[in-house]
Amino acid sequence: MSFLELVRKRCSIRKYTQTPVEQEKIDYILEAARLSPSAVNYQPWYFVLVQDLEGKAKLQECYPREWFKQAPYYLIICGDHEQSWKRGDHKDHMDIDAAIATEHICLAAAEQGLGTCWVCNFDTELCRKHFNIPETIEPVALIPFGYPSDPMLFDETPKKRKSIEEIIKWESF
Ligand SMILES: Cc1cc2nc3c(=O)[nH]c(=O)nc-3n(C[C@H](O)[C@H](O)[C@H](O)COP(=O)(O)O)c2cc1C
Repeated sequence: MSFLELVRKRCSIRKYTQTPVEQEKIDYILEAARLSPSAVNYQPWYFVLVQDLEGKAKLQECYPREWFKQAPYYLIICGDHEQSWKRGDHKDHMDIDAAIATEHICLAAAEQGLGTCWVCNFDTELCRKHFNIPETIEPVALIPFGYPSDPMLFDETPKKRKSIEEIIKWESF
C-alpha cells in the first residue's frame, strides 16, 4: 500500500466488532505514536490505553454516544503543557504535537486493518477526573479503535474534501 493509498483508506470508523486486537498490533500503533515528530523534539504527550470494562464505562460517560460505546479499545491522547514548546509569541505547540501523534496512530491502525475515529467533542473535565489526569496535562482527543464491523467500511466511507483549487495558493496568499 502506498502512503497515499493508506491516507485514502483511513476514515472515521463508527462501527466496531468486539474481536480482540492482537497485542502486536496495539504495540505497532503505539510505536507509530512514539516516533512522531514534535516541536524541539519535546514529545509532550502521554497515551492512556483503556481496555478494561470499568475504564471503558468511565470513558463512555465522557462521550455518551451509542456508536462510541461499541468500541472495544480506546486511547486517551494527553498533551503536557509543561513539556511543550512555546514560541516567542507564547503560542503553545502542545496541540500540534498531540495531533501529529494522534494521526500517526490512526494511519498505523488503518494499515493494520483497524478502525479509529478522532473524538474531541468530549467532557474533558470528567475525563480528567475519571483517569486522574494532572492539572498541567490536557486530554486532547479520544481514539476508539478496533476491527470495523465490516472491512468494506474502509472503501465505502466517502472522502468529502475541498478540491485542490480551493485550498492551494501558489506562491502567495
Ligand atoms: C480534531 C478532530 C476532532 C474530531 N472530533 C470528532 C468528534 O468529537 N466526534 C466524531 O464523531 N468525529 C470527530 N471527528 C471526525 C471528523 O468528523 C472526520 O474526521 C471528518 O468528518 C472527515 O471524515 P473522515 O475521518 O472519515 O475522513 C474529529 C476529527 C478531527 C480531526
